[in-house]
Amino acid sequence: MQTPPLDLGELLLRPWRDDDVDTVFVLQQDAASRLWAGGGGLETRDDAAALVGRLRDQENRASWAVVGAATGALLGSVTVHSIELPLGNAEVGYWTAGTARGRGVAPRAVDAACRWVFATLGVDRVELCHAVENAASARVAAKAGFTHEGRLRRSFRYGDGVKHDELLWSRLADDPLPRLSIRS
Ligand SMILES: CC(C)(COP(=O)(O)OP(=O)(O)OC[C@H]1O[C@@H](n2cnc3c(N)ncnc32)[C@H](O)[C@@H]1OP(=O)(O)O)[C@@H](O)C(=O)NCCC(=O)NCCS
Repeated sequence: MQTPPLDLGELLLRPWRDDDVDTVFVLQQDAASRLWAGGGGLETRDDAAALVGRLRDQENRASWAVVGAATGALLGSVTVHSIELPLGNAEVGYWTAGTARGRGVAPRAVDAACRWVFATLGVDRVELCHAVENAASARVAAKAGFTHEGRLRRSFRYGDGVKHDELLWSRLADDPLPRLSIRS
């Protein structure tokens, strides 16, 4: 679906563009992205083009490029996907460029995306899953106001070709709002 720009101060969440493809391809080549993001790495530029196309056009997902407000540099991605209306359930996925990690970019982006789908689409529950071994992602979930609900056994095949146990978290529309900031 089409998403509006969301102004978060130091960060801007904006719709994906065709000219993001080359940057997405480069940013997705690091080891953590190849292992944990989206179930496998982007092998070719065409894979990146297909990914950006999916993020832009699919009806049941709301996705944004996360960019620095001052520079316009692409810092990451946040996508609320598997949106099921009128049940009001959805899931969220995200990644941050290697050079932008550790500044709180992903929690801020995930929080903003959740607030938008709660307020605009009437979504009531957003789920977040990550491999048990992905400790950085667990920190994103906790900081973005999600509650840990349990462990899913061998639930998703990640980029190493292995099915990993995942931790399941959720955020509800009326959960307390997290207080977040971006570190420079
Ligand atoms: C998980 C990920 C999205 C976190 O994004 P981020 O914008 O760095 O989020 P934060 O700044 O809040 O950092 C989260 C944790 O990463 C770790 N971290 C800190 N600096 C880091 C760095 N330079 N590099 C990697 N991880 C770092 C810390 O444990 C941090 O938690 P803390 O702030 O409580 O210390 C990012 O590491 C990433 O893109 N990883 C690869 C793809 C991925 O795992 N996606 C999620 C799939 S479920």
